[in-house]
Amino acid sequence: MTSPAASLIDETLAHEVSKLQAKYAAEGQNIVCHLEKLLYEKNLDYADYLCTDILLNIQRPKTNFPDEIVFIIFHQIAELYFRMILWEIEQLTSPPQAGEAVFLEKVQRLNRYYKNLIHSFDIMSDGLDRAQFQTFRKALFPASGFQSVQYRLIEICSTDALNLVVCEHRPAAAGGKTADLYRHIYWKSGATEVGTGRKDLSLVHFEQRYDAYLAGKLKEYQHKNLWQTFVQFYSQAPAREKITEALRTFDHLSNVGWSTVHLRAAARHLVKPEGETVASTGGTNWRKYLTPRHQRIMFFPELWTEAERMNWGKTE
Ligand code: HEM
Repeated sequence: MTSPAASLIDETLAHEVSKLQAKYAAEGQNIVCHLEKLLYEKNLDYADYLCTDILLNIQRPKTNFPDEIVFIIFHQIAELYFRMILWEIEQLTSPPQAGEAVFLEKVQRLNRYYKNLIHSFDIMSDGLDRAQFQTFRKALFPASGFQSVQYRLIEICSTDALNLVVCEHRPAAAGGKTADLYRHIYWKSGATEVGTGRKDLSLVHFEQRYDAYLAGKLKEYQHKNLWQTFVQFYSQAPAREKITEALRTFDHLSNVGWSTVHLRAAARHLVKPEGETVASTGGTNWRKYLTPRHQRIMFFPELWTEAERMNWGKTE
């Protein structure tokens, strides 16, 4: 006689199999093929699922200085955070539009990711041997963090193109076509010699690789970037004050908080003890270029008061 426990298992099994049968039937498939697949498939393990063998084999230093590995891994970690940030922004800006609670929660996720990035940046400023860095960086020319395409995408997907134009040109550029605004974007100017118009090598390489792609993204996001999404769907929502606060936090964390800790790392490693500034691998006038109060990049200027805009990055 079958025990009550065994018959309960049989019942559950039959129920699950019938659900699977219905699933595959709806797709015009035979469940038997899928059951056979299960029979022969090897069990998933941690290393296969997370591709750790690949992940731990993509740190390829160019020199023998031990700290170059720290430099590489921390950049890779930051790129993975950028990936999570973009993943959330993509969901926030794609239809169907989420309810206001989900929108708020996801903006708070962005802030959580940035806080972690900021908090951990002392791995670069304090945790990297200065003398080693000063030497191994010479082998990295002309590569630069400036060429992080995900960083550029975060900007493009977060705000209107005009807010990414060099700040002095914004009043004149207002109302211009997206393609024209793209040509005057701040990071292009940052790596272009004033007067001669000569582009630095790292910008030339970056443009060759990503210009068409980024210009396309700028167009794609002109009406659906994070700011436009907020204006269209959430600016009148009951939770608008909380959402506004979360967006302000996001703006400040990315354009002042992160930029400031990054600038500190650059200042620590690219200024010699006697005060001489070392040239960067990306060729910008980095002391000015990386300073938030000079660059004045704000994703959501409309959410800040005139005084707050004037004092952008001044307290850091
Ligand atoms: C010792 C550590 C670091 C130093 C000395 C440093 C230095 C610099 C410098 C000088 C620039 C300006 C462009 C140039 O002229 O090359 C720059 C840009 C940049 N770096 Fe770093 N960096 C460091 C770490 C990092 C890390 C860990 C990341 C993470 C991905 C990163 C991402 C970026 C990005 C996204 C830019 C472009 C910023 C913008 O255009 O506003 N950097 N970096």
